Amino acid sequence: MTVLLTGAAGFIGLHVAEALLARGERVLAVDNLSPYYDVRLKRARLARLEALAGFTFVEANVADREVMLPLAAAHPEVTRVVHLAAQPGVRHSLVDPFAYVEANVMGHLVVLEVARRLPRLEHLVYASSSSVYGGNRKLPFAEGDRVDHPVSLYAATKRAAELVSESYAHLFGLPQTGLRFFTVYGPWGRPDMAPWMFAEAILTGRPVTLYDGGRLKRDFTFVDDIAAGVLGCLDHPAEGSAPRLLNIGNNRSVEVRRFVEVLEDALGRRAVVVDTPRPATDVEETFADISAIQALCGFTPRTPIEVGVPRFTSWYLSWREGG
Ligand code: NAD
Ligand code: UGA
Repeated sequence: MTVLLTGAAGFIGLHVAEALLARGERVLAVDNLSPYYDVRLKRARLARLEALAGFTFVEANVADREVMLPLAAAHPEVTRVVHLAAQPGVRHSLVDPFAYVEANVMGHLVVLEVARRLPRLEHLVYASSSSVYGGNRKLPFAEGDRVDHPVSLYAATKRAAELVSESYAHLFGLPQTGLRFFTVYGPWGRPDMAPWMFAEAILTGRPVTLYDGGRLKRDFTFVDDIAAGVLGCLDHPAEGSAPRLLNIGNNRSVEVRRFVEVLEDALGRRAVVVDTPRPATDVEETFADISAIQALCGFTPRTPIEVGVPRFTSWYLSWREGG
């Protein structure tokens, strides 16, 4: 089986690609190596994948339809698509709004148009985000909850992509599942996310900036659990005209200051904490109801932060030492 995987040089993309290749699938990978964060990290992830049998890489911008649409004709063997390429980062969407609409809305549309042209397409799984729930007070967040009050442009583009997908399911019977990922962390993570920034600050003695004193809560989800869930869903195609949206999270809401304590323990050093007001882009709490994905494919998160954080820090320390 051949899987078209976008965002393969990214954090989650690396782990999904490794999981697909480990079970013998071929991966046709697309990524534009966007300079949003250190491209050496993306190249290092790619180098790992390029050493594995069954992996092919195409450097391309998913929003560039002149390059993307011909991929469908060139690769009729593709039966499944995993679309992870995006401009991520909740807070950065205040800084560079255009990048979000370009990658997350136009890019999403182009990938749907590619999928529509694949003669043997069985299923497209794409990345959405817990941020679509905005500041909802009802917890845990469930797929049937209202999602029409985004508090960041990032969230608005992820919700827009879900709606574009819904129209394509209705119009073209395109079988799709959107996965709402909840704050993913782990080895090969992103330098713009809290685990990396906090670890670096702890190691160098610089202050760790905690929004609202670290009282915000996140459903931190370990990346191996995410990769297992992506493959589980991929193996259970949605009905063409009934688009599916599923939460994928750890099903535990943890205060950020508790996450910092676990990081401190793993690194053997204390953090110097600075309390800062929460940015308008960041919600108070996220917490995933995962009963739907559990019922679909038996998804069960297996990694509490006490296990996942030391796995992250041991990778991080070796990366800092030069890989
Ligand atoms: P990442 O930035 O590490 O990976 C995304 C990859 O997409 C990068 O390698 C980047 O170069 C590539 N990319 C960006 N724009 C592109 C474009 N126009 N064309 C081709 N490639 C492009 O981020 P990640 O954390 O691995 O996120 C993967 C997906 O999951 C994204 O859709 C993100 O929005 C979503 N998500 C992530 C989290 C999380 O906590 N990491 C949570 C919710 C949702
Ligand atoms: C993450 C990803 O960055 C988004 O791409 C993704 O869409 C989102 O998860 C999601 O779940 O949908 P975020 O939860 O903000 O966003 O992840 P981190 O940047 O790792 O932040 C974790 C927590 O630490 C958040 O509560 C954030 O407010 C807090 N934080 C972050 C601080 O207290 N201080 C900081 O300096 C940075």
